Amino acid sequence: MPYPQRPRLFCDDLPTLPVCDQGIVLVTGASGYIGGRLVPELLERGYRVRVMVRSHARSYDDRWPGAQVVEGDALGIEDLEQAMDNVSTAFYLMHSLLLGPEKCADHEIRVARNFRNAASDKHLKRIIYLGGLGDKNDQLSTHLKSRLDVARELVKGAVPVTILRAAVIIGSGSASFEIIKNLVERVPVIFLPDHAKTLCQPISIRDVIKYLVGCLEHEETQGREFDIGGSEILSYENMMKVVAGILEKKRFFPKLPLNLNVFSYFASFITPVPAPITRSLMEGLANEVVCRNSDILSMISFETVPFREAVKRAMKIEEDDKITSRWSDAYPPTCDLAPRLHELSRRTRYTSTHFILTNKAAISLFYSICRIGGREGWFHNNWMWRLRGEIDRLLLGVGMKRGRRSQSELRENDVIDFFRVEKMEPMSRLLLRAEMKLPGLAWLEFTVKPDNQGTNQLNVTAYFEPGGLFGVIYWYVFLPFHYLIFTRLIKAIERRSRSKERL
Ligand SMILES: NC(=O)c1ccc[n+]([C@@H]2O[C@H](COP(=O)([O-])OP(=O)(O)OC[C@H]3O[C@@H](n4cnc5c(N)ncnc54)[C@H](OP(=O)(O)O)[C@@H]3O)[C@@H](O)[C@H]2O)c1
Repeated sequence: MPYPQRPRLFCDDLPTLPVCDQGIVLVTGASGYIGGRLVPELLERGYRVRVMVRSHARSYDDRWPGAQVVEGDALGIEDLEQAMDNVSTAFYLMHSLLLGPEKCADHEIRVARNFRNAASDKHLKRIIYLGGLGDKNDQLSTHLKSRLDVARELVKGAVPVTILRAAVIIGSGSASFEIIKNLVERVPVIFLPDHAKTLCQPISIRDVIKYLVGCLEHEETQGREFDIGGSEILSYENMMKVVAGILEKKRFFPKLPLNLNVFSYFASFITPVPAPITRSLMEGLANEVVCRNSDILSMISFETVPFREAVKRAMKIEEDDKITSRWSDAYPPTCDLAPRLHELSRRTRYTSTHFILTNKAAISLFYSICRIGGREGWFHNNWMWRLRGEIDRLLLGVGMKRGRRSQSELRENDVIDFFRVEKMEPMSRLLLRAEMKLPGLAWLEFTVKPDNQGTNQLNVTAYFEPGGLFGVIYWYVFLPFHYLIFTRLIKAIERRSRSKERL
């Protein structure tokens, strides 16, 4: 089914009790990896939840029934103030890794400043922030230092802040997990930089969510800082060896005095995770990220998931195609505030439509459309799609490797390779927005329309709004390829679909 599944819940055995009479709980960064896992837990525990997202998608109402979804950008203090109306506690889970380390640091500090000012103005009782581990006296990587700077900025305000600090999070959909797993899976000989020996205390996503909810339910955590981690301290090299063991792959890890930038560029080519994220995370390999205090254990105590078990669970969820949130849910920087197709003041300058008439059932045609991309590819001329993706990667774009969160389920805001689902109208329309590097704005739309002869018309339309002369040239150069690719694509979709009689 292309529609949302019920999420798995993590907090069933949490030793704290819900405190639901505290008013509205705001989750910022809800459209991201951690936020996307936290919201269903809070709803299940009976909290009144408001989420702030930069762009509302209908899928949020399906994923979080009962939550109030407000649109807002934390770079604007008015948006934050509106989102914080009548809020008691706010989770700060905003992050901008896709901006790359330097731009991210600058963006985050502005967001944190706005956040603490708005929280003070709106008399919030608490803020709960999840940041990164790392010894404060070390020379930290730009990314880890930025996580620390956000915490420092937040505590300057009048509202008490609970700070949780975590290292690598292991779970399906986590960027760090996907980097480690894909490297081990795809490369038989992995040349490791010296920093692969650095120690890290990974934690499972399940435990992170439990600590976040536990802090909300444990008043003494207010205004305090806690390091959170799993029970083992491992080097990155050891983590890779454990993953290789689980995957039953014989892997070799020779040392090479590699520059971390080179290593991260290599990782971004091999894994689905794009360069700005791998660069931010890999720079941090130079810093030990282990818990220096274990104070949280005396307040919120439960058995954490061992590393090996966390990896196995994440792999199983991937295998079962049940990932509920993923690093790719957050927008790449050039696309987060890009206009939607319906928001353009006029029709795009160029459109090109191809269609076929078919007896196949609308439901089946739509089902086939919703399976494009990811592991199954684009049904035809796959090498052309992959080539376009590789070119995009070379230009430091998102490329094709992001794949899909789920191969069987699709919802608005999901990515499909270098596209993102902008609109989905069951049985009739799927609108994808291009997020690759382009000299303009582009969309790809699939529609299924019944005609009065009892047949269905399957259309694919490319929309393009060029950004200058180069954009115009780009459109005409690619037009013949579009004809070839799109006509074959809809034929392949039609072939995979069933007729009404066979349903
Ligand atoms: N994931 C990990 O492995 C990990 C490990 C340790 C610590 N942490 C910490 O956990 C926190 C959350 O990380 P994550 O992995 O969930 O991040 P993520 O998946 O990248 O999500 C980031 C979220 O922030 C939102 N955002 C960014 N800029 C915004 C703005 N100006 N206004 C409003 N929303 C904005 C994004 O919204 P859009 O959807 O609109 O882009 C997205 O929802 C971070 O502080 C991170 O340091 C994460």
